[in-house]
Amino acid sequence: MATHKIAVIAGDGIGQEVMPEGLRVLEAAADKFGIDLQIDHFDFSSWQYFERHGQMLPDNWKDQIGGHDAIYFGAVGWPEKIPDHVSLWGSLLLFRREFDQYVNLRPARLMPGITCPVVRRDGSARAPGEIDMVIVRENTEGEYSSIGGRMFAGTEREIVMQETVMSRVGVDRVLKFAFDLAQSRPKKHLTSATKSNGIAITMPYWDERVAEMAKAYPDVTVDKFHIDILTAHFVQRPDFFDVVVGSNLFGDILSDLGPACTGTIAIAPSANLNPGRTHPSLFEPVHGSAPDIAGQAKANPIGQIWSGALMLDFLGHRAAHDAVLQAIEQVLAPGSGAPRTPDLGGCAKTQDLGRAITQALQSL
Ligand code: NAD
Ligand code: IPM
Ligand code: MN
Repeated sequence: MATHKIAVIAGDGIGQEVMPEGLRVLEAAADKFGIDLQIDHFDFSSWQYFERHGQMLPDNWKDQIGGHDAIYFGAVGWPEKIPDHVSLWGSLLLFRREFDQYVNLRPARLMPGITCPVVRRDGSARAPGEIDMVIVRENTEGEYSSIGGRMFAGTEREIVMQETVMSRVGVDRVLKFAFDLAQSRPKKHLTSATKSNGIAITMPYWDERVAEMAKAYPDVTVDKFHIDILTAHFVQRPDFFDVVVGSNLFGDILSDLGPACTGTIAIAPSANLNPGRTHPSLFEPVHGSAPDIAGQAKANPIGQIWSGALMLDFLGHRAAHDAVLQAIEQVLAPGSGAPRTPDLGGCAKTQDLGRAITQALQSL
């Protein structure tokens, strides 16, 4: 069997703490399913690297990681040391763009043993699996553009502007991915996030492309909501959603809100995909470096571990993905007696939860 080359970048803050647990589970899955992994660690994309080199990445970063099959990423950002836009545009956002990872796939599912903070309209609790959506976020253009600038800096006439960019290729390819995904799921339901009432050029264009794409998927139920009311619907009836597709910024916002509705953003995974596989895809938790809890071994590693499962799936190992998810669910299940980190209402350490999931996986 071919060896999969994985570039590991733990990054900043709790990235350093959750990555070892992600790797522990990944290696256990590889052992169990006979998967051959070559793991290469890189220390760049961290504030310490920046302090030593004056930049987030080495000049030849593409040569160093571009030949890998996947990148397993922790988190980046340490605003006390480096302004966020400098560290993020100097690493993660550059990877997404330069490796053309145009789909950011972010599942949000209510897991067993997690109290759902958004009750049903009648006040009753929601059941595991009742919320089960996938957010498909456009990941290379939209509101995250580098086109713009500052004029008359420091004067009363100061102006800043930044353009939103939507290309037909860029919009259509992410929509096609989202429609294909919706078609493959039992509910076959796609929701588009828009704001075409107020943002009157790019968003009507987005709607137009959604309507055009929908013609090729007559079996998919399509609806659209303006982003403002869509956030309200997420909270009031999260069970309604199946596949939700949005621009870069709307997808970013919804992919924190969706997981928050399922109890904790700490378990949310993401896959930054280059579907054509001409470049490596990148797998990381949705959360960031969490400076408020970093260094205390309090971080929940499930977002990192689940992201590793998405990576195994992308590399062709669906059974290994399913087993990791089963192990996570077993450990979270009520009455499992397994350790829980503080965000889950317990006082266990990051490693305790990582080890419990590893053991559950090994004994499946
Ligand atoms: P954050 O996700 O780091 O933290 C938000 C809150 O969630 C914090 O209270 C934190 O303690 C908690 N939290 C996050 N992950 C957790 C985990 N695994 N277990 C338990 N609790 C967890 O978001 P932020 O505070 O807005 O950002 C902090 C830094 O991370 C910034 O520099 C930001 O730019 C960066 N960031 C990076 C990424 C990324 O690398 N993909 C994503 C988001 C934010
Ligand atoms: C995410 C993060 C990043 C984004 C930040 C850190 C630039 O919030 O991965 O969701 O906005 O994409
Ligand atoms: Mn985000």
